[in-house]
Amino acid sequence: AASESAKLRSIRLLLVGDELVGKTSLILSLVSEQFPFSVPPRTQPITIPPDVTPEHVATILVDTSLREQTENDIGSEIVRADVICLVYSIVDDETFHRLSKYWLPKIREKLGDNHKVPVILVGNKSDERFEYRDQESSLNRAIPIMHKFKEVETSLECSAKTMKNLAELFFYAQKAVLYPHAPLYSSVDQM
Ligand code: GTP
Ligand code: MG
Repeated sequence: AASESAKLRSIRLLLVGDELVGKTSLILSLVSEQFPFSVPPRTQPITIPPDVTPEHVATILVDTSLREQTENDIGSEIVRADVICLVYSIVDDETFHRLSKYWLPKIREKLGDNHKVPVILVGNKSDERFEYRDQESSLNRAIPIMHKFKEVETSLECSAKTMKNLAELFFYAQKAVLYPHAPLYSSVDQM
């Protein structure tokens, strides 16, 4: 893994997902350490210098937006990505269903069925969780997706608004690129 990381001059971290799930807000919260109350549809790629990243590799945050890009534009970003954060909103079930209905198949269409680009499921807006929907059952929803799509490395919930788990998200994304390993549940199928 060390030689692997030495070869990488930077990590291209791509955020994709449905409209209004909070991709742009996540990026701007992460870099400015405060929640932006008003955001453009899309930010320019932002490079985080190595010394302030968890694994000390420069990381380029790349935003996408169906509001101002075509599916083809997003497709050409998918093929350039080192790691993909697939964002949904925990308070909008349709954005969750579209992970397996649309986004993961779309990523496979671009990269091939056995591609090795790690995907991280990101449930944003955790600050809006209603009390009756506990986090455990919500995270359990990701398990069948991880069974079906082995490229899904991990799943977490975060909030661009409160910044909960943003550092973790960044850390998981870097780790997924630098230390690739079999996904959590693959051993079950191989027995
Ligand atoms: P597109 O560019 O259309 O694809 O949207 P996007 O995914 O970039 O979402 P954007 O960052 O524009 O956020 C959409 C709306 O959700 C905005 O009103 C944000 O203020 C709000 N939002 C984003 N993140 C959070 C969050 O963590 N919590 C809450 N409560 N609202 C959020
Ligand atoms: Mg946006």
